[in-house]
Amino acid sequence: MITSKAWNWDSDIHDYWKKVSDEFLPVMLKWKSNNFLKILDLGCGIGRNALYMARLNFDVYAFDLSDSGLSRLADEAEKNMLSINIKRGDMLDLPYDDDFFDCVLGFHSIYHTDYEGLQKVISGIYRIVKKGGELFITLNSKESDVWQQYGQYADKKIDEYTLIKTETAETAVPHTYLDYKEVLELLSGFSIIRIQQIFDYFEDRKHAHFFITCRKEK
Ligand SMILES: C[S@@+](CC[C@H](N)C(=O)[O-])C[C@H]1O[C@@H](n2cnc3c(N)ncnc32)[C@H](O)[C@@H]1O
Repeated sequence: MITSKAWNWDSDIHDYWKKVSDEFLPVMLKWKSNNFLKILDLGCGIGRNALYMARLNFDVYAFDLSDSGLSRLADEAEKNMLSINIKRGDMLDLPYDDDFFDCVLGFHSIYHTDYEGLQKVISGIYRIVKKGGELFITLNSKESDVWQQYGQYADKKIDEYTLIKTETAETAVPHTYLDYKEVLELLSGFSIIRIQQIFDYFEDRKHAHFFITCRKEK
């Protein structure tokens, strides 16, 4: 399995990472109305979603490999008097008890490994989420230009799913890409509630991600 690599959050941070995610917000509100309480933000970065959930009085746990990301999150939480359980570690080895969380969020994070690693992360999440609990995760789609035009944005292809990126905060960070069928195979232990594929168009490329809500059945 490939070595994990954290993001460096010390450089300039795009505004995108500073405000709660548009796609996750309605799911978060649904979790609130379903009385889900204990939530893990897995690969939380500087914690835009964790901070928002803490403001809504969820019991929030934030986990990441990046010291720079977590220290920014800790500062922001303290400044705003928000309580968040912050832990540093590798998502390939989740340090939480079985059936601990009502829900797990993995936003643009859990694909930062190779396919074998991604399978490991998914089975780790399955272990720590309660029966009847939900996941909201994003996965990279093979319809992304970065996958289609390999070589332009990434310098190494490790397997039939994974590239190593060469850009800014993501330099040397692995990214795994899947197609729809591969997503279903990966998540076969869960019941799918909703899968969307969303394209973001930039000047020089388009990104495609799957946005997935699923449940661990009782
Ligand atoms: C694209 S950022 C997303 C941050 C956050 N989820 C958000 O939406 O704002 C990906 C995050 O995943 C973290 N990450 C990458 N590999 C990891 C690993 N093996 N274990 C834990 N976190 C990891 C990175 O350090 C980074 O903070």
